[in-house]
Amino acid sequence: MGQRILRQCTMSERLFYSAFLVLMGVGYLMALVYLYASHSDNDDQAGLSVEDIAANYYGNRSGTDFEASIRGSMGRYLKNPGERHDLVAWLKSGATEQAYRGRIQGIIKNRCVACHRADSSLKVSDLSSFRAVKKLTVVDTGVSIQSIVRLSHIHFFGIGFIIFTVGLVFQRATLRPWLKYTLIVAPFVAVFADIAAWFLTKWDPVFAYTVVIAGACLGFSIGAQIIISLYQMWFSPETSSSCELK
Ligand code: HEC
Repeated sequence: MGQRILRQCTMSERLFYSAFLVLMGVGYLMALVYLYASHSDNDDQAGLSVEDIAANYYGNRSGTDFEASIRGSMGRYLKNPGERHDLVAWLKSGATEQAYRGRIQGIIKNRCVACHRADSSLKVSDLSSFRAVKKLTVVDTGVSIQSIVRLSHIHFFGIGFIIFTVGLVFQRATLRPWLKYTLIVAPFVAVFADIAAWFLTKWDPVFAYTVVIAGACLGFSIGAQIIISLYQMWFSPETSSSCELK
């Protein structure tokens, strides 16, 4: 059974499709805002970048927060290079509790705990116990595989459903076949590549580029489907003559 193309759709079909497409378009923009807000300060630089994506999935494996602090601005609170050397050696040797009980606890107590206490008015992490210190000595390996699996199944179903429904409307657009086929298949391929790249980025940060490129393809193809559909329903030259008011 042939279906009506968009410019021949009845008024009620057009209103129904258009309201849905606009809703999806706005929803997509909100998703972008959320993505920006939630990932832009994964690395220490402003704005959302490929590094932020890599930091999210791969983490920052070059060192720990504790080591970064004593090599950076907290280093000035240490009295002599020997203390820093001892702390770094302790971190490199696995930051064990046994070694902590020796000299390390004393250094931290004397040099850091004045400010880094649980009841401190400064909003800084507590360094007054081994457990608290240990938390800052764990290498950041990014979000867990478990979270990626959880997020990916939500994305597969959620986004799959959105591109299917938007595609149902877009199927009625009239377009050069190669372009139409490409725009229909592209978002599915993009979602698949995007999610696969989350896992791959966990393994190698270079795949953060794939996440970005696939995300852009998804946005572009869904955006094009929505805009072309809306245009053909309302603004295409032949629309008004063939429109039935039903
Ligand atoms: C005079 C108070 C003071 C002392 C002493 C001090 N810090 Fe801090 N520390 C701060 C403040 C304030 C911040 C947050 C601002 C910043 O990052 O500079 C901070 C931030 C940090 C951070 C990163 C943010 C956080 O809260 O986790 C770490 C890690 C840290 N300090 C470790 C240390 C270590 C280790 C020592 C001891 C060698 C130390 N600090 C000594 C005041 C202090």
